Amino acid sequence: MKALVWNGSTIELTERNTPHIIDDRDAVVKVKLSSICTSDLHIIGGYVPRAKSGIVLGHEFVGEVVEIGNGVKNIKVGDRVSANCETFCGECFFCRHGFINNCVNGGWELGCTIDGCQAEYVRVPYADTGLTVLPENVSYQNALFVGDILSSGYFGAELCEIREGDTVAIIGAGPVGLCTMACAKIFKPQKIIALDIDDFRLNLALKLGLADYILNPEKCDIEQEVKNLSENRGADCVAECAGGKNTFETAWKIARPNANIAVVAMYEENQILPLPKMYGKNLIFKTGGVDAVHCNKLLELISDGKINTDFLITHTLPLENILDGYKLFKEKRGNCLKIAISYP
Ligand SMILES: NC(=O)c1ccc[n+]([C@@H]2O[C@H](COP(=O)([O-])OP(=O)(O)OC[C@H]3O[C@@H](n4cnc5c(N)ncnc54)[C@H](O)[C@@H]3O)[C@@H](O)[C@H]2O)c1
Ligand SMILES: [Zn+2]
Ligand SMILES: [Zn+2]
Repeated sequence: MKALVWNGSTIELTERNTPHIIDDRDAVVKVKLSSICTSDLHIIGGYVPRAKSGIVLGHEFVGEVVEIGNGVKNIKVGDRVSANCETFCGECFFCRHGFINNCVNGGWELGCTIDGCQAEYVRVPYADTGLTVLPENVSYQNALFVGDILSSGYFGAELCEIREGDTVAIIGAGPVGLCTMACAKIFKPQKIIALDIDDFRLNLALKLGLADYILNPEKCDIEQEVKNLSENRGADCVAECAGGKNTFETAWKIARPNANIAVVAMYEENQILPLPKMYGKNLIFKTGGVDAVHCNKLLELISDGKINTDFLITHTLPLENILDGYKLFKEKRGNCLKIAISYP
């Protein structure tokens, strides 16, 4: 089969053997649509120490189950499924507490430490927890982002602990920021303010009704503008979904005292936490890799028409052109948000 392999420094589309069941709890999925994630770019850039050279990249996909191990209970051959970006056993201390990102038997494995989905077939360990069956009225396209960036958006909104009537600021109107806005709306804030330096993305957030206000920090005094929109207090909750050079600083600056700050972005460099400067502001920071535990709920929200992420697919390319896809995605050419990779 064709597969996109990272060899430690570059990527190449090459031939690989089709995967098969290794463990009783595995399933093999024929990939129907996959995507490229900013985290794949982080691996290629050398910023993910645990990534293993020689693996097939990719952890965001939907497909059809073609083989299952004897120990798989909830998934059957022929099921249309969305995959969780995390592999988790469902039984260890962390899994039992919903902290699946830290599963002692898993974590971010697909496309990082084991072969991922930018190939025609992929082996999914712990298939019962790693795969979610799609409701009948949800298409592969509708579900493509459920197990990764939509889950990350929900995770960000949840970490914010949004209460009805809150003013929520979301930094970054990229795919993850836009998903965070869509999920934040479920918690009924009074207003969502989107921040980005890309006016196209900001205007899209406004046009789609994901944000109520948009601000470009390069074109205004951002602290003051956020205060103007929040009775001079600052934002009640901030989700940092940009990962830019100064966006961590923006996050705590635009937050009101006692606000919750959710750091969803993954940084390529260390960040500074200037505690003396923020002393007395009594901020609550929450960080982390997504605990993608709400895939069923997100699929229900999609099935009920309450969340729709189809607009994120700005480009569709066949697997044989995936290298062009990487270029498009990395350079954000043609206002690219997300690429859907299609399969023969
Ligand atoms: N926590 C997790 O589990 C998880 C999961 C998926 C992605 N991520 C991370 O989330 C982040 C966002 O992912 P994405 O795919 O949306 O990336 P992206 O690069 O498409 O989006 C980032 C956005 O931030 C904007 N931005 C950059 N500098 C800015 C600044 N100074 N002020 C305001 N906006 C600025 C960019 O214009 C862009 O639109 C990445 O760091 C990614 O690695 C984390
Ligand atoms: Zn990802
Ligand atoms: Zn576990």
